[in-house]
Amino acid sequence: MKPWPFAGREKELETLIRFARDRAARGVVIVGAAGVGKSRLAAEVLRGFADDRHAVLRIRATKATSDIPNGALADLLPARAPEGNTLRWAAEEIVARAAGRLPVLGVDDAHLLDGHSAGVIHSLVATGRARVVATLRSGEPAPDTVTALWRDHLARRADIGPLGDGDIRRLLTAALGGPPDEATVVHLCRVTEGNALFLHEIVDSALAAGTLQRLRGMWHLAHGPLADAAPGDAPLAPRLVELIRDRIGTLSGPLAAVLEFTAFAEPIGARTLSTLVSEEAVLLAEERGLIRVAVEDRREVARLGHPLYGEVARERCPGLRRRRRYAELVRVVAATGMRRREDVLRGTVWRLESGLGADPEPLVAACRLAWAAHDYPLAVRLAEAALPAGGGVEAAILLANLLDHAQLPDRARAVLDATPEPADESTRVELALARASNLAWGTDRLPEAMALLARTEGTVTDPARRDAITVRRIGLAASAADPRSALAWSAPLLDRPLGAALRAQALSSRALALCYAGRTTEALAAVSKALSGMAGWRDTIPALVSPLHSTWALCGLFSGDLAVVGEATASMTAAVSGQRGWSRGEGSLALSRGHAAILRGDLDSALAVLHAPAHHETAVTVGGCLGAYALAQALCGDGRAAQETLDAALARNRTTWTAFGRWVALTRVWIAAALGETSRAIDLALSVAASSRAAGLPGFEHIALHDAVRLGRAAPVRARLAELAAVHDGERVRLAARHAAALADGDGGELLATATGFERLGLMLHAAEAAAQATGALRRAGDERGARRAAAEAWSLAASCPRAATPALRCLAAPDLTVRELEVAQLGAAGRSHREVAERLHISLRTAQNHRNQAYQKLGVNSAAELAGIFARFDGGTPTGLKRAEAAAPGLGERRPRRHLADRASDGP
Ligand SMILES: Nc1ncnc2c1ncn2[C@@H]1O[C@H](COP(=O)(O)OP(=O)(O)OP(=O)(O)O)[C@@H](O)[C@H]1O
Ligand SMILES: [Mg+2]
Repeated sequence: MKPWPFAGREKELETLIRFARDRAARGVVIVGAAGVGKSRLAAEVLRGFADDRHAVLRIRATKATSDIPNGALADLLPARAPEGNTLRWAAEEIVARAAGRLPVLGVDDAHLLDGHSAGVIHSLVATGRARVVATLRSGEPAPDTVTALWRDHLARRADIGPLGDGDIRRLLTAALGGPPDEATVVHLCRVTEGNALFLHEIVDSALAAGTLQRLRGMWHLAHGPLADAAPGDAPLAPRLVELIRDRIGTLSGPLAAVLEFTAFAEPIGARTLSTLVSEEAVLLAEERGLIRVAVEDRREVARLGHPLYGEVARERCPGLRRRRRYAELVRVVAATGMRRREDVLRGTVWRLESGLGADPEPLVAACRLAWAAHDYPLAVRLAEAALPAGGGVEAAILLANLLDHAQLPDRARAVLDATPEPADESTRVELALARASNLAWGTDRLPEAMALLARTEGTVTDPARRDAITVRRIGLAASAADPRSALAWSAPLLDRPLGAALRAQALSSRALALCYAGRTTEALAAVSKALSGMAGWRDTIPALVSPLHSTWALCGLFSGDLAVVGEATASMTAAVSGQRGWSRGEGSLALSRGHAAILRGDLDSALAVLHAPAHHETAVTVGGCLGAYALAQALCGDGRAAQETLDAALARNRTTWTAFGRWVALTRVWIAAALGETSRAIDLALSVAASSRAAGLPGFEHIALHDAVRLGRAAPVRARLAELAAVHDGERVRLAARHAAALADGDGGELLATATGFERLGLMLHAAEAAAQATGALRRAGDERGARRAAAEAWSLAASCPRAATPALRCLAAPDLTVRELEVAQLGAAGRSHREVAERLHISLRTAQNHRNQAYQKLGVNSAAELAGIFARFDGGTPTGLKRAEAAAPGLGERRPRRHLADRASDGP
């Protein structure tokens, strides 16, 4: 195992170093569980003693030396011990070895010290002739003279807990040479429980196996759900299995049974376990740390002692015994009455695993539960089992709907094609609905889907079934970002009495349409109405939970209310938490969180959040996540990478009839800007605005128009933004309108006020850009002092969005340039020739040369390389401009704490 550079654990290390050097004590004993990273921390602490006043002497206690007197000190002592008092002799030898310096004893695994060595160390420390930095495994018996080190206040004791997710993120970033995505950090946190040794092993073997890969600038670990032995999941590396086996130790039959039952059925009632094995075995298993028992909902529930024990237990359990174990679980749990809701799901899965087979009804019921839990692979498996078990058309429709949601439309279509036309009207309508969804979502054929619905409606007499068709039509219109139709159709429908599921679906679609129509307050009311009746529909249409939350979040994004987005994502997290597998739920959650992070200007977080869902194989939201990832990359100034990502997004998302297309168009604006083609970016923004206006989508329209303002073009859009501010809910559009007016008027003071408004909303990138534009406006107005203050403000705001490199921010590095000169200068800095610049910007060669000469002159540079240096702050370089601005206006940057800056400071290295 190659050692990693030391990373994470900043606070712990600081405390340990303080303790180790504490004048009132003589060192520190680092205590913690096996593998948490004690030795590594001790090594870092000892590095601080590498000077000419101290002599670091390393003492490594092992099992092999623990029975030999002075065994641990063997390396430090002469081969032959004298007769008599060896303790004094050994202590003197060690002092002599330090040759006049103070010995610092680095004792690793002090619990394994033999009594003699421990006595020598204790005596040296007690008499002040040495300092000690020792590690000790918690829960292991240690010699008295070791525990006496802190009991007698000779040394300080420091307890080290598991690595936190921040530690894991920083460790991985340092070890891999680049950041991991959020899902990878969350997964590794969960499976290792903060154990550094397990982390190191898993990462090394995943690298070797190619399951840990760098994609689009971030590291991603491909993994399946932990709780299931997911097909295709890489098995644990042999060395890791050995490590865990070592920990588990040899198990008697009953203990192995407790571990296996818990691995297969976690969380499992302690009483059930006792019935399955024996009370005695359960107590012993808990004592040995194989399982943990806690009281949940007034009953004792057992879970594995460590998540990785399950993997090993499953691996150790051969096929026949495994099937028997599942059969036992079915027998015992079925006998106790399957009281809880999830027992249907668990019981049915156990039946399948045991080979007993199951009836179609529980399979269908279990499938719905698995779907509600966003566990698509399991849900598909259950629905597939229900078909041959005699589930009929109902099972086929369920399976097809599921496959569509798991973005496996071809398989869904095959199931639908193989389904015979049902005789009864109810099933016929259900089948038509499934076919319509498959046509629209799976094969991008919205008009055909709508036509099919119309044809079916013509043959249906039952009013409730006609309503079901209308609801589906409203859903498709809303998803197609056609709020006019969706609103017109949904209003009369919702006035009539409807079943819980149909009403929830209609409300959900209406909410989305309202949101697209700019009526976010009404949209939120509709979302909340639908969610308040969730108990009545969740089992029938579980797939509605995530779109409702997405709409909730979208309202916050369009209206600029990040608190609303936060509430939506918190509620969504609660709805999908504890659920296995990757899900559509997680994808849309990532999408909402990612977009919010982009608005906050926290592009690192946006990239980390969006990354894993963007690489998942089977989710509806993959295209959306990739598109948003591309937007974040573009805002970081990496136009080429963003373009590649966007191409991938388009290749993955087949449904071009949805709002996805508009997000893509907005992303193209910022890709053009990142490529240095500001004028083209503005044209793109204006065309998105025009088409959104035509479609009656004020939300997309105001974003596009404001994009043009952010890119420096305000005059032609200010009037329309003012109109939109009157019809679209929320602060965001009002500030955008104010921003446009201020920029068009060249009013620096008003631009700064707009920046403050954006900052108040938490839209830090917009705030920084407005302040940057204020700098230019004030300078052009001859107010040099005001311009300097504005620049300091802009830099301070820009520090809240460290990776952002939009044209307005780039202007900060070159404040005297005109928009055109900046454009030419950026292309020049990127290494483009005069001819290329002229071609790209559709200007003559001569004009291009003139602009560049002007830029060189204003900036006082002579080459493209120097030009590149000026923009370095925005290309991952050092923020030289920031330092310059701070020097110009010392202290200004710290005048007001920036919320996000403060957040980051408490979290980051
Ligand atoms: N902060 C860190 N930075 C880099 N690598 C670390 C860090 N902490 C632990 N590691 C690595 O994780 C692995 C386990 O850490 P370490 O050996 O220090 O654990 P330990 O608590 O001493 O374990 P044991 O109980 O087995 O002695 C090692 O490979 C170590 O290099
Ligand atoms: Mg160690």
